[in-house]
Amino acid sequence: MSNDPLLQPYQLKHLTLRNRIMITSHEPAYPEDGMPKDRYRAYHVERARAGVALTMTAGSASISRDSPPVFNNILAWKDEVVGWMKKLVDECHDHGAAVMIQLTHLGRRTRWDKADWLPVVAPSHEREAAHRAFPKRIEDWDIARIITDFADAAERMKAAGVDGIELEAYGHLLEQFWSPLTNDLDAPYGGSLENRLRFTMDVLRAIKDRCGPDFILGLRMQGDQMRPGGMTADEGMAVSHMLKDSGLVDFLNVVRGHIDTDAGLTDVIPVQGMRNARIWNSRARSARPRISRPSMPRKSPMCRPRATPSPRACWIWWG
Ligand SMILES: Cc1cc2nc3c(=O)[nH]c(=O)nc-3n(C[C@H](O)[C@H](O)[C@H](O)COP(=O)(O)O)c2cc1C
Repeated sequence: MSNDPLLQPYQLKHLTLRNRIMITSHEPAYPEDGMPKDRYRAYHVERARAGVALTMTAGSASISRDSPPVFNNILAWKDEVVGWMKKLVDECHDHGAAVMIQLTHLGRRTRWDKADWLPVVAPSHEREAAHRAFPKRIEDWDIARIITDFADAAERMKAAGVDGIELEAYGHLLEQFWSPLTNDLDAPYGGSLENRLRFTMDVLRAIKDRCGPDFILGLRMQGDQMRPGGMTADEGMAVSHMLKDSGLVDFLNVVRGHIDTDAGLTDVIPVQGMRNARIWNSRARSARPRISRPSMPRKSPMCRPRATPSPRACWIWWG
């Protein structure tokens, strides 16, 4: 067996990943009628056949009707998604790959004139530059409804047999609560950092209650918004600790930056030919009890062709 560190198995709770190579969530925009049909399935099955340990499907599947897709996402709020996801999961499992799905509520990161033209909600009226809807300030009943929507969508994915889910926080509704730039609510969901995290904790708790403690639940977040008035690296670190200490998440997938403008987005997700972003992992390292070491790709002969192998994201997980 190869000694390549990238190819060693990894244990995440009860889930054994056959190596340390994963596909991070990205939307190929292949859904048909909002469903991951044959083309979508073929896209992920091909990667499973190629040997990845884990494929994180969806470019964040939408959990609510009032989170209409802006890039042809999977509609996880529809029951019919279960059958389509099950086919995808089963075929990937047949090839030895684990399958998870990224779920989200986009909050203000959508347009007012998509799908049912429902009001866009966010924890302030602050408009997102990229998608330009003026959000309605979220109310108590919206919060309660969306928490239930998250739990419903997670339950659908569990029924489809996924190995776990990842919530998309950065730039989307969860993080819109975290950041003082996009949350001007009063307590209990606004004000202190603890209050700004309350919605996320409520969502995580609702999912755990619905899907059980063994269902793997993670979160993709920014560790530093890198913009004036936004969340700092220290706050990102505090959030990481609070999430871990809550016992409600099994892994964190950390990026840095902000995606509410096209320029910001291109820094977080550079296009081919751009310089790699500086890695944030020295800070991430201090937050983690155990980690899939971000430096690992540099040690791998498989990655040598890459001139500057500095990953922009890292996984932090605990068993
Ligand atoms: C077209 C496209 C869509 C993406 N959509 C998402 C998304 O919905 N959620 C997410 O967390 N990351 C998304 N990403 C980011 C990727 O998961 C990944 O972090 C990024 O491409 C950087 O990967 P690299 O460090 O391997 O180059 C997307 C990337 C691309 C290119």
